[in-house]
Amino acid sequence: MAASSRISSSSPAGGSGRLLLAAHCALLLLAMAGAAHAHPPTTSSGGSPLSSAFYDASCPGAYAIVRRVIQSARVSDPRIPASLIRLHFHDCFVQGCDGSLLLDDDLPAGIQSEKNVPANKNSARGFPVVDDIKAALEEACPGVVSCADILALAAEISVQLAGGPRWRVLLGRRDSTTTNVQSANNLPSPFDSLDKLQQKFRNVNLDNTDLVALQGAHTFGRVQCQFTRENCTAGQPQGTLENLDRVTPNVFDNKYYGNLLHGQAQLPSDQVMLSDPAAPTTTAPIVHRFGSNQKDFFTSFVASMIKMGNISPLTGREGEIRKNCRRVNGK
Ligand code: HEM
Ligand SMILES: *[C@@H]1O[C@H](CO)[C@@H](O)[C@H](O)[C@H]1NC(C)=O
Repeated sequence: MAASSRISSSSPAGGSGRLLLAAHCALLLLAMAGAAHAHPPTTSSGGSPLSSAFYDASCPGAYAIVRRVIQSARVSDPRIPASLIRLHFHDCFVQGCDGSLLLDDDLPAGIQSEKNVPANKNSARGFPVVDDIKAALEEACPGVVSCADILALAAEISVQLAGGPRWRVLLGRRDSTTTNVQSANNLPSPFDSLDKLQQKFRNVNLDNTDLVALQGAHTFGRVQCQFTRENCTAGQPQGTLENLDRVTPNVFDNKYYGNLLHGQAQLPSDQVMLSDPAAPTTTAPIVHRFGSNQKDFFTSFVASMIKMGNISPLTGREGEIRKNCRRVNGK
């Protein structure tokens, strides 16, 4: 096997002590390789309780079903992939990736929806597509796939359909029976300073590289002109839509960073990663790196998406698998 031959070739035939040591190392490596093989590589998730193989037995068609519904939705609404990845972000940043964002107001049940906070109201979209995905999954494997996992799967599929990287989505999240409006009110704002954005990301264990990589999702999708640095042009209604990436508006690529480098970012919160006085020693070098190397961006983006998807999931017997993503069960 490769490991042991590497050891013997790098050990000159010296005294018996050396040979013994080499043999010992080889055995250790063999033991480690054996342990690694006990888990197929597809389930390895680096310390996360989640696993990419979670539905392999219980709902083997899950990925294909989610993909098919998104494919069909984007025929009439090409913006859908961008809208769906944003839902995963707004879900994960509020009490973890637990589908809390998807719950509608239900005051008798004590549910105050996160959909009405400023970051979501008249802004977060794609909920009917999530309903369609859930309905298709309930048809194929009732009560199995969580709404939180639907958002994680939809995020990866959306990136991939737009020409971005693919990755193995970690799965096994369960759905909350609660919302957290206070935390949703604290979602990152387009008018936050760099320091504030860094704080909000650090609160969920995401660093400067994650901040720069994840904002790279603004390579597709739309923005209402009221949130742009120009704040609309004279007489334009506040909700007028513009492209977040003015160069390749529907493609998932690294052009977003090129826009930043040309002072052409749409959101104030995009441009601060270069313009803030603290940027040169924190985020700016990362913007330059991703702007000049799309492969670097893709690799980091995938790693950061997996990190974001690991924010405080409910697992095991926690939470529930909602039958309808808009309502807790038993209602
Ligand atoms: C750093 C903090 C962030 C801020 C302040 C921010 C802010 C915004 C704002 C203001 C919009 C436009 C909303 C509207 O006009 O209604 C937007 C859109 C979008 N955001 Fe972010 N964002 C951030 C991070 C992220 C992250 C981490 C992702 C995903 C990984 C993401 C993905 C998107 C996408 C794809 C859109 C377009 C959605 C659509 O067309 O429906 N954003 N963001
Ligand atoms: C954008 O312009 C509108 C109308 O002129 C104004 O009411 C609003 O406060 C402005 N927004 C920002 C963030 O400056």
